Amino acid sequence: MHTQSLHTARSDPPAAPARPDGNGLAARSLRAVWHPCTRLRPGGDRPPLAVVRGEGAWLFDDEGRRLFDATSSWWVNLFGHANPAINAALKDQLDTLEHVMLAGCTHGPAVELAERLSALTGGALGHAFYASDGASAVEIALKMSFHYWRNTGLPGKREFVCLRHGYHGETVGALAVTDVAVFRDAYDPLLMRAHVVMSPDARQAEPGESPRDVAQRALDRLEALLQQRAASIAALIVEPLVQCAAGMAMHHPVYLDGVRALCDRYRVHLIADEIAVGCGRTGTFFAWEQSRCNEAGDDAPLGAQQWPDFLCLSKGISGGYLPLSLVLTRSAIQQAFVADELSRSFLHSHSYTGNPLACRAAVATLDLFAQQDVLAMNQQRAQWLAEGLAGLAADARLCHVRQRGLIWAADLREPFAIETFAADFHRAALERGVLIRPIGNTLYVMPPYVFDAPLANWLGERLLAALDSVVAPAGPGKEARHAA
Ligand SMILES: Cc1ncc(COP(=O)(O)O)c(C=O)c1O
Repeated sequence: MHTQSLHTARSDPPAAPARPDGNGLAARSLRAVWHPCTRLRPGGDRPPLAVVRGEGAWLFDDEGRRLFDATSSWWVNLFGHANPAINAALKDQLDTLEHVMLAGCTHGPAVELAERLSALTGGALGHAFYASDGASAVEIALKMSFHYWRNTGLPGKREFVCLRHGYHGETVGALAVTDVAVFRDAYDPLLMRAHVVMSPDARQAEPGESPRDVAQRALDRLEALLQQRAASIAALIVEPLVQCAAGMAMHHPVYLDGVRALCDRYRVHLIADEIAVGCGRTGTFFAWEQSRCNEAGDDAPLGAQQWPDFLCLSKGISGGYLPLSLVLTRSAIQQAFVADELSRSFLHSHSYTGNPLACRAAVATLDLFAQQDVLAMNQQRAQWLAEGLAGLAADARLCHVRQRGLIWAADLREPFAIETFAADFHRAALERGVLIRPIGNTLYVMPPYVFDAPLANWLGERLLAALDSVVAPAGPGKEARHAA
């Protein structure tokens, strides 16, 4: 399996000479900022890239270099940096209301955003609970699920099920349902126990097995657990279609329909974590909309019962501008919290819950979807991406080439896999004008929705050149080796 990805997910920054001294931004940052998801090494740290400006799909560093943001700044950016429409909305909001607490108060952007997202689910998920980061949305969904069962007389439903190699964030609750060793192992003694079930990752196909078969195998394993423990299980949490931090592990959409049916049959909540895959990334606004794949040719909207019980959104929902997350849920679930007793209320909060600036950025983001027929354009962009990266897709050094909407990924074939691939490739791509961070031996591209065919071709050429500089091209009679 793809265990190599588990050890370097959201992988290391590039190898480069340490620059502990000096007054440049990178050196000052090393002295003053504790960077996220970054190793501190004895003998000095590698300097971060000092970014001074962004425009469209491009970032500009303090040396005047222009870099293509090939992974949308940790999968958040949708419509480019410094997008004029989102900027204008934010400037207007700044002069109107920057923040007010959402307990006992409300404001236009929070209400409009909740209404519009509910409408996008056909009203199935009628209430939005706001937070700031993705992990806090996951915490909320887990707590709400448990609390719902408690409020409805089933306090014994307090266990959670998650997928092998799933990722849901770094806070203690979210980490408990995360199965990425490099992030969770150190904290394991602090974490509640969760059931980890087989991932539907299509790369696990045995000879003769289709991605659909792998999904069915994973569903069978899940059902075996539910048969035994459903009475104690509150919810199952899944990343629909793509387990991103696992190395862009993709599965057949039949899995989604299958987990919905199993959760109904065994009376377990279904939490869809669309923090990375929502907002048009996989081809539909919500990845979950593709769960109807069973019914060939049927593109009717999902019925209310076909939606998950909780749907977590973050990252792209604010256009990649501001920390914002939310949990959409059924009004029927919210109703279980209506009571005189305080203990039945959901008292969770964060100071910046539903921040007006963040919500306004999100409303402006939804406006762009509505005005520009983004989903249709993204089908075209997905095609450009596939064509631009066709040289990589055909390369003998890569395998498991896969794409879902605007996520393209491939793995280094086993003989070419190298421990330092992520860091080496990152550095080689930077030298060629592309900011990209492989996950272990998985090379992936997840660009903002603002590129055209020539730019996709340019990207493909640059990435191939970076690959050549890191892994010697395969050829007849050539041994796999690390490029000099
Ligand atoms: C699927 C998924 N869930 C949750 C998170 C956590 O979000 P955040 O980093 O904003 O806390 C991430 C972040 O990458 C994610 O990909």
